Amino acid sequence: MNTAAVNPRIALYSALALVLGVCITAYGSGHPSLDWLPGMGSLPDLYEASIEELQEGLRKRRFTSVDLVKAYLARIDEVNLNGPGLRAVLETNPHALEQAAELDRERKTSGPRGPLHGIPILLKDNIATKHEEGMNTTAGSYALLGSVAPGDATVAAKLRAAGAILLGKNTLSEWAYWRGQIPSGFCGRLGQATNPYVRDGNPSGSSAGSAIAAALGLAAGALGSETDGSIISPSSLGNIVGLKPTVGLTSRAGVIPISEHQDSVGPMCRCVADAAAVLAAIVGRDPKDNYTLSQPEVAPDYTKALRKDGLKGARLGVPRELFKDIDANVLIAFDAALATVRALGATVVDPADLQEGWDQAAVWATEEIVLCGDFKENMNAYLAKLVAVPTGVRTVADIIAFNAAHADQELVEPFWTDQSTLVKSDATPQDARFWAAVVAGYRAGREDGIDGALARHALDALLLPTVRASRPAAVAGYPVMSGACLSPWRRCRRRLRDVRGRHRWSHADVWRGLTLAVPLGFQPPDVALGEANPTRMNGPGMPFGVAFLGTAYSEFKLIQYAYAYEQATKTRLQRRAYPEAIPKTQLVHVIGK
Ligand SMILES: *[C@@H]1O[C@H](CO)[C@@H](O)[C@H](O)[C@H]1NC(C)=O
Ligand SMILES: *[C@@H]1O[C@H](CO)[C@@H](O)[C@H](O)[C@H]1NC(C)=O
Repeated sequence: MNTAAVNPRIALYSALALVLGVCITAYGSGHPSLDWLPGMGSLPDLYEASIEELQEGLRKRRFTSVDLVKAYLARIDEVNLNGPGLRAVLETNPHALEQAAELDRERKTSGPRGPLHGIPILLKDNIATKHEEGMNTTAGSYALLGSVAPGDATVAAKLRAAGAILLGKNTLSEWAYWRGQIPSGFCGRLGQATNPYVRDGNPSGSSAGSAIAAALGLAAGALGSETDGSIISPSSLGNIVGLKPTVGLTSRAGVIPISEHQDSVGPMCRCVADAAAVLAAIVGRDPKDNYTLSQPEVAPDYTKALRKDGLKGARLGVPRELFKDIDANVLIAFDAALATVRALGATVVDPADLQEGWDQAAVWATEEIVLCGDFKENMNAYLAKLVAVPTGVRTVADIIAFNAAHADQELVEPFWTDQSTLVKSDATPQDARFWAAVVAGYRAGREDGIDGALARHALDALLLPTVRASRPAAVAGYPVMSGACLSPWRRCRRRLRDVRGRHRWSHADVWRGLTLAVPLGFQPPDVALGEANPTRMNGPGMPFGVAFLGTAYSEFKLIQYAYAYEQATKTRLQRRAYPEAIPKTQLVHVIGK
């Protein structure tokens, strides 16, 4: 879940962002020169290096994956608990160096497996990794410390198979922000994470650590997860690109859940091309997650979407009604972005609203029932599958009792004492009210929401500030039957029917939304610096993003639009993190040492 619980308005916006979004944070136009280091020569600057640049350096033997792992571990060490103490990374992989050496050997003997060979990637701490490797999977909570997952989550296994090095686990708002009203970026195990652009700033959440790590070059990229805003919101405040795929495109097997109806795993990277490369490695059907059976049999080649002229001929709609009370600086930057996409050949339909009367708060009221009911069911199922849990926690009720018994670690004064969302979830059964809420959410997201707006104005996608993008996408119903699973996918349809028949529910496949967020801009110098209680909600230089929102399985299109926008604007590099937050270690410091 998205986050900023301390401020109810921000919390509301966050909740809205859950649905379908690919959020693109724009890259800045001015390119400040990167810090030049003697001897850096043609080595990439790890603050900004793209996966393709890293791959090129590896290919040309300018450095090895061992060098990359050493440099990234040193960078994490500089800013995580030391220096500014940003608290982005919970654990690093004790076997990362030997795995890198093995992948270096393999590269020499049989060549790279693909674009992610030997590339270090960080994972949000709700994505399981095999226990033998030594890393924990805890959603940030002491309740799961030492627990033994049955193995790698499917997305983790896929990254490994693609040759990526799983460098460590990123912090998050505990339980993916499904514990209670606490500041975003807090978990019991690591404490409060903060924003790399504003000292003591809100990092947003729940994928807070993944956003901070990608923003500062603590790894080549990261995975996050989203239920309603948890990828795109921290990506927006971290000045990076975040992609929340359609529910069902990436497997959730082995991912500590909130809701099977809404959870989605996606990439959080510095540029759209990197996000596309990471996405390509993790998509696919997985018998361990039935929702994935609805996706097209063959994934598109997302690299083909990386076209500078990608916005030419696109029809984009602006759901203005969602912009009420939006920050004035965000609105100014957004209207400039509309001029940019028009100049790049897109037609902008403005306004192109969702159904009249579409209300974020009303939609959240039904969505919350679904998330609470799912959480109890899905979390209990996750806990039941664990091979061992040293704390004995096996149900949501156990988590609540654990927190109360370990209040000094988990319910920490003065800001982090709340676990009301867990309590509410434990009391929410999957009864008639729950199923009515599932259907209502589906309608709000689909006919009354994104699909309705797209159809009324013959649009390809919606474009809006990221801060308002998550909810329609979170609840968006993209019925498999009318999306990618139309007639060309006869077999898929049949399988879906089978899957539905086996389930007591019939709407499991309809909450699909997709969002891609890219950098849009930064708060100006004259904006008031918020109070740190404990994090600042705003301040000079705070980044914000713009999001492309699409129908089910329209990732290819959104990547195409976001890439064209990013290449034309390069917003990300208009501003760097505050000086102490930028790690100094570069490849030149580790090569040959
Ligand atoms: C995982 O947690 C255990 C405590 O149960 C700890 O000993 C171990 O160091 C942790 N793993 C890593 C990689 O930090
Ligand atoms: C998915 O479908 C399989 C049968 O193919 C069934 O055994 C299993 O219970 C289903 N899993 C979930 C999580 O619904």
